[in-house]
Amino acid sequence: MLEEIKKTAAFIDARTQQFRPEAGIILGTGLGDFAEQIDVKYALEYKDIPGFPVSTVEGHKGRLIFGLLEGRRVVAMQGRFHYYEGYAMTQVTFPVRVMKLLGIGCLFVSNASGGINTSFRVGDLMIITDHINLMPNPLIGPNLAELGPRFPDMHNCYDRELIARATAIAERERIKLQYGVYVGGTGPTFETQAEYRYFKAIGGDAAGMSTVPEVIVARHMGIPVFGVSVITNCGLSDEAGDHEDVQRQGRKAGQKMAVLFREMVKGL
Ligand code: HPA
Repeated sequence: MLEEIKKTAAFIDARTQQFRPEAGIILGTGLGDFAEQIDVKYALEYKDIPGFPVSTVEGHKGRLIFGLLEGRRVVAMQGRFHYYEGYAMTQVTFPVRVMKLLGIGCLFVSNASGGINTSFRVGDLMIITDHINLMPNPLIGPNLAELGPRFPDMHNCYDRELIARATAIAERERIKLQYGVYVGGTGPTFETQAEYRYFKAIGGDAAGMSTVPEVIVARHMGIPVFGVSVITNCGLSDEAGDHEDVQRQGRKAGQKMAVLFREMVKGL
């Protein structure tokens, strides 16, 4: 596994003339437009990167973008891999491993999610303060000791300093923020009403089908993480989840997220 990760990183390094990104960004469903903020220097299609899986979900482009954002070198995943697509967890998290070897010093993750906290509204941004993992753990299997410990600590999984910085930026930019716990399930079904109530009862504020695997792997390697959920539907309301609606709401709230990410990268 480690050899594969190194091989892919070496391939990308060569293709991007040792661009060496300082920060990684993962763009969730409907949030791919954020890539327009980046002064793109190199863009690699996932299908052209040896070792990379290929994204299959509508609304997810499959590109790795290298460029400048507020003068900082960033790498952005336009489209991510989900467990529900049938990939192994090692495949889902492979790009994060590769980004670490490329040199990233922090990871920004985003997703679309269903609000469980009844004070949340569609279109809200939720800063992820913690998560509950209801998927298979991506670190199951032999430990890649060169990259991190067998039993990684998950305290402060979402970097407190980055959260504080986001709070200050949001106040300055007048962006309304929510804060909460992200519950990561496998999908691809949206939750039943009973499951949303269960997620709420165990301490969740938003439900989604991504993010947790990538964050666990990033923390395994000691990378500070900042995560944002765009609330695209309210789970405990009577309305059903709908993928098109999720994409549309993602795009709308994505503009607020773009300001936040841009300002945060500026402050790195
Ligand atoms: N549940 C799980 N994933 C989601 C949801 C949801 O309600 N909305 C967007 N992604």
